[in-house]
Amino acid sequence: MNEGQPEAAVRHKFADYFYNPVTLAGMILSVLVLVVEAVLWATEMFLGVESPYFGLVLYLILPPFFGLGILLIPAGAWWTRRRLRRSPGTAVTKHIHIDFANPVHRNTAFAFILGGMVILVMSAAGIYQTYHFTESSTFCGEVCHKVMEPQFTVYKTSPHASINCASCHIGAGASYFAKSKITGSYQIYAVLTDNYPKPIPAPIKNLRPAQETCEQCHWPQHFYSPKERTSPHFLSDEKNTPVPVRLMVNVGGGRVGKGQTGIHLHMNINHVIEYIPYDDTREAIAWVRATDRITGEISEYRSKSLTISDSELFARPARRVDCIDCHNRPSHKFLSPQKIVNEALEAGTLDRTLPYIKREAVRALDKSYASRSEAMAGIAAALHDFYSEQYPAIEQTNPRRITDAILAVQDMHNKSQFPEMRVRWKAYPDHIGHLESPGCFRCHTDDMVSTKGKTMTRDCKTCHTFLKPETSGGWQARSYIEAPGFEHPGDVGDMWKETACHECHQGGAELY
Ligand code: HEC
Ligand code: HEC
Ligand code: HEC
Ligand code: HEC
Ligand code: HEC
Ligand code: HEC
Repeated sequence: MNEGQPEAAVRHKFADYFYNPVTLAGMILSVLVLVVEAVLWATEMFLGVESPYFGLVLYLILPPFFGLGILLIPAGAWWTRRRLRRSPGTAVTKHIHIDFANPVHRNTAFAFILGGMVILVMSAAGIYQTYHFTESSTFCGEVCHKVMEPQFTVYKTSPHASINCASCHIGAGASYFAKSKITGSYQIYAVLTDNYPKPIPAPIKNLRPAQETCEQCHWPQHFYSPKERTSPHFLSDEKNTPVPVRLMVNVGGGRVGKGQTGIHLHMNINHVIEYIPYDDTREAIAWVRATDRITGEISEYRSKSLTISDSELFARPARRVDCIDCHNRPSHKFLSPQKIVNEALEAGTLDRTLPYIKREAVRALDKSYASRSEAMAGIAAALHDFYSEQYPAIEQTNPRRITDAILAVQDMHNKSQFPEMRVRWKAYPDHIGHLESPGCFRCHTDDMVSTKGKTMTRDCKTCHTFLKPETSGGWQARSYIEAPGFEHPGDVGDMWKETACHECHQGGAELY
């Protein structure tokens, strides 16, 4: 710069404004992003690699950086222009002069491009590994540890424990990704700011349709035969008397379209069942319609007790019954105290010779605790107090029996209840069956009356028959003798015949 020169001597060209570090950084950034995007896109296109998280990087994480790079270019120019106008005498320092005729420049540029390519390829491989990781159940279940802990814990012991979360929840390919990217980025924000509902509300409204998930593995044309099922039950008496229930569940049979009967009839393509729920939880159902596509017969049912005007009802979209309307807990079952204690007594992890252990364990698990540590202390105190007051002899001769029971009940708590996320069995009722929540009885009740005055079937035998308890002597001695009907265990009289099971049974200690 020459001090003595008049101002007018330094004339700036438009191009000069672009020689500044900010603009240069913007250019480098946007070119880099473009190259990475191109590599990723090519991997997805030509190598046929499909991953939901390709989309995450390709469409969600990188574009803002590209945008930033592009914005920096004029921003830097504008800033330089202002600076030059304020002190007009300043000459422009041109950082880079590339002269390809100069061999030094040429070789440097060549080395730079080569090195850049190597770095790019390596980082693309690294990023690819990251996708694999993000797709895994470990990422979904453990990275957002606190939020996903309840679902992840119960998933690990479910029949789907070896299936990735993504195969039911995310789906591959850019098109699905495009649909979920908005909610996805909101979720990340919500977790970071601890601003999410506890428990996470169900049902999930934007869950992938069953055709894309369940039906990829469970062939819908496959007919399931009746399923024998023995469920363990124990009374609340001193002896914890076992009262197992043995059922033959009429899951389905016959061929699709022709003579299919049973429960999976709901999924028959020729038999369309639709419903309109009363509220967002889908726990109460206001309207149901069955259409037989072969005979053209239509049966429409409406709830008598859920009063709602026609205009309000039909303003809501009807939902076609899908696997998830019954199997809503295929991998996240949160067992009630009743169920988890019955299972532990059956398996022997809880000592059934301890007097009243069924009732006391259920009572201890039914209490609501503010945190896990409070629950551990509460369970220990409750069982300890009961046995030291009522059965001091056990405490004196064999205290291990009581400490073992305490440990078992604490473990049951940790596997089924998550105070930090306010998750307990009541937050997520299971729709298979009807014992502890309405389940099938959401539709199959006397309350659902058709336009022709017919009520929905509640006849026990439509869905299952009762079998006489198994005789001891292994599977060879098994018999399939039908029991005359259901005999309600314990002394509850005939009341159970008039009332829906779930009105008394709520999974906890309310029965005692
Ligand atoms: C077999 C399919 C399947 C797999 C595998 C699966 N889920 Fe789910 N998940 C579901 C269904 C179905 C629902 C919806 C329940 C509803 O809408 O009532 C759900 C619901 C959820 C919910 C909402 C809360 C709730 O319990 O309803 C969360 C959170 C969740 N899943 C997380 C996960 C995580 C984390 C994994 C992997 C560790 C996973 N899921 C694996 C099928 C699956
Ligand atoms: C990636 C494949 C896959 C997907 C997706 C899948 N399942 Fe399964 N499912 C399986 C396998 C494998 C088993 C058998 C597990 C076993 O017997 O241990 C199974 C078992 C089951 C069972 C029987 C469980 C039992 O108690 O024996 C039900 C019910 C079921 N799945 C429902 C569903 C529903 C509903 C969905 C969709 C939300 C779904 N599955 C999605 C593979 C899958
Ligand atoms: C109307 C309710 C309902 C619908 C809809 C439904 N199921 Fe089922 N499903 C049942 C019941 C009830 C059982 C037997 C009870 C049990 O699992 O213990 C059953 C059993 C099963 C089994 C286990 C069969 C066996 O022999 O172990 C599988 C697998 C299954 N269903 C998959 C599906 C799939 C996939 C869909 C969707 C295409 C579906 N179900 C739709 C109610 C339903
Ligand atoms: C959304 C409402 C709804 C739910 C929930 C529901 N069903 Fe149904 N179910 C129907 C309708 C509608 C029909 C057909 C009635 C008709 O044709 O008039 C039906 C028919 C049946 C039939 C008779 C099939 C035949 O062979 O005639 C069985 C069995 C059955 N359901 C079992 C179940 C079981 C088990 C569950 C719970 C796992 C269940 N349903 C849950 C609406 C429902
Ligand atoms: C709409 C179909 C349907 C009707 C009607 C029905 N049930 Fe059930 N019931 C089921 C299903 C589904 C299950 C669960 C089977 C399973 O878990 O595999 C079940 C389970 C049961 C169980 C075992 C509960 C457990 O957890 O061990 C008993 C007991 C039972 N039902 C009694 C009855 C009685 C009594 C009636 C008649 C008043 C009746 N059911 C009517 C569908 C039905
Ligand atoms: C009027 C209330 C009431 C109704 C309705 C009722 N129960 Fe019960 N049930 C009880 C009580 C109280 C007990 C507790 C007996 C005990 O543990 O000593 C019980 C116990 C049971 C048990 C054994 C305990 C256990 O481990 O679960 C089974 C099984 C059972 N009920 C099934 C059913 C079924 C299935 C229905 C619906 C068809 C039903 N109950 C309806 C009150 C009722």
